Amino acid sequence: MKENNAPKTIRLSEYRAPDYLIDETHLDVRIFSDYTDVTAQLHIRKNTQTAVATSLELVGADLELLEIKVNAEPVPESLYSIADETLTMNNVPGQFILTLVTRIDPKRNTSLEGLYVSKGMYCTQCEAEGFRKITYYLDRPDVMARFTTRIEADKSSYPVLLSNGNPVEKGDLDAGRHFVKWEDPFKKPCYLFALVAGDLSVVEDRFVTSSGREVSLQIFVEPQDLDKCDHAMDSLKRSMKWDENVYGREYDLDIYMIVAVSHFNMGAMENKGLNIFNTSCVLASAETTTDAGFQRVESVIAHEYFHNWSGNRVTCRDWFQLSLKEGFTVFRDQQFSADMGSETVNRIDDVNFLKTVQFAEDSGPMSHPIRPDSYIEINNFYTTTVYEKGAEVVRMIRRLVGVDGFRKGSDLYFERHDGQAVTCDDFVQAMEDANQIDLSQFRLWYSQSGTPCLQVSSEFSASSETFTLTFKQETPATPGQPEKKPLHIPVAIGLVDSTGNDLPLELEGGTRIDPDNPVLELKQPTETFVFRNIKEKPVASLLRGFSAPVRLQYPQSREALAFLMAHDRDGFNRWSASQQLVVSVLEDMIAGFQNNESVQPDSVLVDAFRTLLTDSSLDLAMVAKMLELPTEQFLAELLPKPTQVDAIHQSREALKQALASSLSTEMTSVLDRYPLHTEYHYRDQDVSERSLRNTCMYYLMSLEQDDVVERCLNQFKQACNMTDQLSAFKALVHSSRSEKSQVIEQFYQRWSNESLVVDQWFMVQASAPQADTLERVKELMNHTAFDMTSPNKIRALIGAFCNNNPVNFHNEDGSGYAFLADQIIALNKLNPQVASRMAVIMTRWANFDQARAGLIKQQLSRVQSEPLSPDVYEVVTKALKS
Ligand code: TRP
Ligand code: ZN
Repeated sequence: MKENNAPKTIRLSEYRAPDYLIDETHLDVRIFSDYTDVTAQLHIRKNTQTAVATSLELVGADLELLEIKVNAEPVPESLYSIADETLTMNNVPGQFILTLVTRIDPKRNTSLEGLYVSKGMYCTQCEAEGFRKITYYLDRPDVMARFTTRIEADKSSYPVLLSNGNPVEKGDLDAGRHFVKWEDPFKKPCYLFALVAGDLSVVEDRFVTSSGREVSLQIFVEPQDLDKCDHAMDSLKRSMKWDENVYGREYDLDIYMIVAVSHFNMGAMENKGLNIFNTSCVLASAETTTDAGFQRVESVIAHEYFHNWSGNRVTCRDWFQLSLKEGFTVFRDQQFSADMGSETVNRIDDVNFLKTVQFAEDSGPMSHPIRPDSYIEINNFYTTTVYEKGAEVVRMIRRLVGVDGFRKGSDLYFERHDGQAVTCDDFVQAMEDANQIDLSQFRLWYSQSGTPCLQVSSEFSASSETFTLTFKQETPATPGQPEKKPLHIPVAIGLVDSTGNDLPLELEGGTRIDPDNPVLELKQPTETFVFRNIKEKPVASLLRGFSAPVRLQYPQSREALAFLMAHDRDGFNRWSASQQLVVSVLEDMIAGFQNNESVQPDSVLVDAFRTLLTDSSLDLAMVAKMLELPTEQFLAELLPKPTQVDAIHQSREALKQALASSLSTEMTSVLDRYPLHTEYHYRDQDVSERSLRNTCMYYLMSLEQDDVVERCLNQFKQACNMTDQLSAFKALVHSSRSEKSQVIEQFYQRWSNESLVVDQWFMVQASAPQADTLERVKELMNHTAFDMTSPNKIRALIGAFCNNNPVNFHNEDGSGYAFLADQIIALNKLNPQVASRMAVIMTRWANFDQARAGLIKQQLSRVQSEPLSPDVYEVVTKALKS
């Protein structure tokens, strides 16, 4: 482990082009049971454009150097030195071949970066800086080389040997060993290198590209998972077709391989021609995977595939530019998912996630721009800000330049920068050049952190027949950025008349507004727009489709919200109105809770929900979405601080029960109208039916009456798919009914061989609101199925408890915080990346009352007094500094 008490801060302003380049990288990886030896032959050349130095510095971590040669001549010890993960060589020639032999220990590598072993299978994870754990190298994305890889291992244990590109040679060796040699024709940075050795089964298919080239598609999994690859394969083919149709991008190699591994820090990795996936993002079957799981597989498969252009063909100059590939690729996978299903439902899910997680991140001590200016550990910057807010920024550009203009811009970007390592600014420049527009103010979205707050007021004048909207934008100060400038914000709007139609929009002063896509472009701190010829008072529908990642503050009456919920032409804003209505009702109930009075929910909400449940003309998927109550985490983010953990939980439960009692007839008839499917299909209509039925079941179960419990138990037993079974399981486990212990046992017995289902089993138990949950979580950490080296298991048990169980995690006795600190300290040694993700939870201390904030800080200090990885060090230090 890297261990350091004051790790160095890396700054964007200090970026320098590399002094040396590597044209070719030839690796020979020999896997033995106790160690692995790596021979690297690097064709190195001085970068004539920049080089001043004559000394070469390569980075390496956890390596034992066995040999070092320049042009086949051993280098004497006096001519090189190794210190602080740096191999320095003085007076090297302008061009030479460096040969390095290093020994590594993949079996003891629990960090899951570099070369490691997952369930007996060797695999790599090199992004962001894992390649340095394989050999000494110029481990930076602006150094791009052509790679060949020879892998050698025992043939019976590791019959499958994979790397990037095409297989060019293979053969048997002495002592039951064999080798395969791979060649990748494309230059790439080392973070895209990959290698796999294991006993894997493969599912094969093919895809013919638009220019008629045939691509072999292969998904490698453990033999027992062969029946769970169809959905991933189908998603891959649809992604390939979609990228051709929508972006004009074709695949460029003859083989596209995907390997599923159990132990993986993130979702998946776009290594050139050899994607490595967390099993949770590849495997899917009706019996073991929920609808949400199917959706996740589809979107991650697409995401990694799309990286082949947005990330691999055009890559990042340095890690500050991470959003160049991630923001753009998330945007592309969001567009793809929208095209494959319901655009509105996808948008709702994406925005919900952004507002719950990214807004919270951007208002805390880890707040950073989508292009950060500095970092200590780059792994800490694979964040919802870089990914999801980054995608929102790309989405805003598309709104500003239009769909066709955006395609022109992306064509120019790919053409201009193919084979290069570039910056976010190059992306914006291509958009500007292709569309002859000025995005100079817009560029602030890349450098300024924090969520802008947009306050809106409106005024209707019957006498002058005008409707006036005034916008005031303000971005709160964030760490390192006390002053903020006004941003260029696109606000999509409509003014809705009493019949539910959009009024034609005409601005006073003659500013034109596109009738098909009305967008107000804000650029000043305060801006006023006067609409003329408005004869009746309209209801304003603002920020349609969530056209900018801002906090909108526009107070509207509950009647106006109920009206928009029923009539807004924009599906996203119908949902948004329903959420605002629920939140405003919950605010009453929370206030009541604090004064010890029970407040019944406003009948405006009950009536609106009744309409949702009974009007058969409505879109089922939307009805299901609108009936879902916002999560406690979403509410915590939105409502004033300090967060009233218990009041939020109790009021939300009370609202759930009140709605269930008032609407029990309507909800019960939904259960009758949509009986359990006897066959599973992952298709829109069925997903919506399951979602609506399970939402109604969830409401009704809050009353815990015998007839519903009976129904729920039946669903648990009879469900033909994981969506229905897990919904019933969760409703029972989160109730106080005595049946639950048996159900917990039965579920485990049924699924103990399906690791991903066991994750769900942990997750449901860890998020139970009952007071004994922490004890149960601690017990489960000793369960045979729990594994402290598996990020999936850690997220399912520890992560679910700390993130999805606010009342228990924030127990005022501090037990949740002490538990988390213990886990961070343990994980810091095993897997710094995962430890640091867990530590992020504690950075939110300032959102809580003094007593809780004090307890969290105590635990942070306890963690800080340990010898820390740079990952955890950075998070804990920033949390305590604020
Ligand atoms: N580039 C990957 C993606 O977004 C992210 C990723 C996968 C990653 N594994 C990682 C980042 C490990 C850091 C560390 O698709
Ligand atoms: Zn990505």
